[in-house]
Amino acid sequence: MSVDTASDLYWDPFLLELNTDPYPIFKRLRDEAPLYYNEQHDFYAVSRADDVERAFADSKRLINGRSSVLEFIKANIEMPSGMFIFEDAPRHTKHRGLLSRVFTPKKMLALEPEVRAFCERTLDPLVGSGGFDFVTQYAEIVSSRVIGLLLGIPEADQMAVRAKLDEHVTSGQPRDVQASNFEGAMYAEYIDWRADHPSDDLMTDLLNVEFEDENGETRRLTRQEVLTFTTLLSGAGNDTTAKLIGWVGKLLADHPGERRALVEEPALIPGAVEEVLRYESPGMQNARYSAEDVEIAGGVVPAGNALVCIMASANRDERRFQDPDRFDVRRRPAGIMTFSFGAHFCLGAALARLQGRVATEEVLRRFPEWTVVDDGAVLEPTSTTRGWKHLPVTIP
Ligand code: HEM
Repeated sequence: MSVDTASDLYWDPFLLELNTDPYPIFKRLRDEAPLYYNEQHDFYAVSRADDVERAFADSKRLINGRSSVLEFIKANIEMPSGMFIFEDAPRHTKHRGLLSRVFTPKKMLALEPEVRAFCERTLDPLVGSGGFDFVTQYAEIVSSRVIGLLLGIPEADQMAVRAKLDEHVTSGQPRDVQASNFEGAMYAEYIDWRADHPSDDLMTDLLNVEFEDENGETRRLTRQEVLTFTTLLSGAGNDTTAKLIGWVGKLLADHPGERRALVEEPALIPGAVEEVLRYESPGMQNARYSAEDVEIAGGVVPAGNALVCIMASANRDERRFQDPDRFDVRRRPAGIMTFSFGAHFCLGAALARLQGRVATEEVLRRFPEWTVVDDGAVLEPTSTTRGWKHLPVTIP
């Protein structure tokens, strides 16, 4: 099969109007151009579940070392050492392994009572209010606070970090370098403070962990390295999780029968969160750079090119999921690509799932029904993520 450049089939992640409903074009890509080439921006794209999975699994030839964000690959931006989402083996393995040692499933599960208490404190004042913004008054607050809990940053200060960050992140752009620098400066203050005030949190663990570096020397992380790890965790886990919880608000409002099933049978909630992650992936796509010629999806990506792997399309691939455009909380989907696959599989997936589950349980406990006010709802698609910036809801 040859690469499709037919002029009537056009997709690029920067055409934000396509993102209002990208699924019809994703279906066309899967059916008509499983290996798509975009001449205007010079990149390739795969959209079928098997191909996206195969590309993510092929981390030796399809590398992250030039970034996994298309515009960063094209701009050839240099990434700081330790920003391991943009590194390859062996350096990636070492850095990821180091974070995995302190960012354990046990540590994440231990956060559950605190996450729940925080959801309760956020929702209780809204009971009887008649309505609220599901995103700015709930989803964003929960996701910011959980990162703060993880890192040991006091609550009031964590919200200030988020507000400042939002001023810097322009809609339609990925998180820009300016925002990352700003975030870095905020976290730098806490690293110095934590070094003097150790506690039971991840920042303290990062300051104390001993490891063997690439020169065979056993040492602790430098302040700069702790800062990079902290910025990576916060950058990867904050906005994505807020968008997941925002989609819970939207999808359950759009499917009241499914919502009723969850109220009647809360044991279905973990599976429902998985279905939300499949149906509306907060991250739309991640890119790779071809270190050599790679045969995929019936064609070849020549060495030295960007390959965009569209997770949001893979999750709606009828070759993997039966009746994929139906939202079904009992589906329990296996093989979703939302958290990537292989070497770079999301390190925070368990924490994101935990937050999605607890946030949904606590909402449904108080509000078995809500309606979205379409007038005020604002979708915020950027070239990398897709979700709600505002989702006003009324409660009976
Ligand atoms: C619904 C929420 C989330 C989604 C959709 C998501 C998605 C992703 C994806 C797609 C990747 C892989 C990128 C690639 O392959 O190039 C990734 C990596 C990563 N995520 Fe998440 N993420 C979420 C939440 C979190 C949270 C809560 C944290 C931590 C607090 C986190 C930490 C990370 C880290 C550290 C990596 C880098 C892993 C590596 O490169 O080895 N994520 N995430």
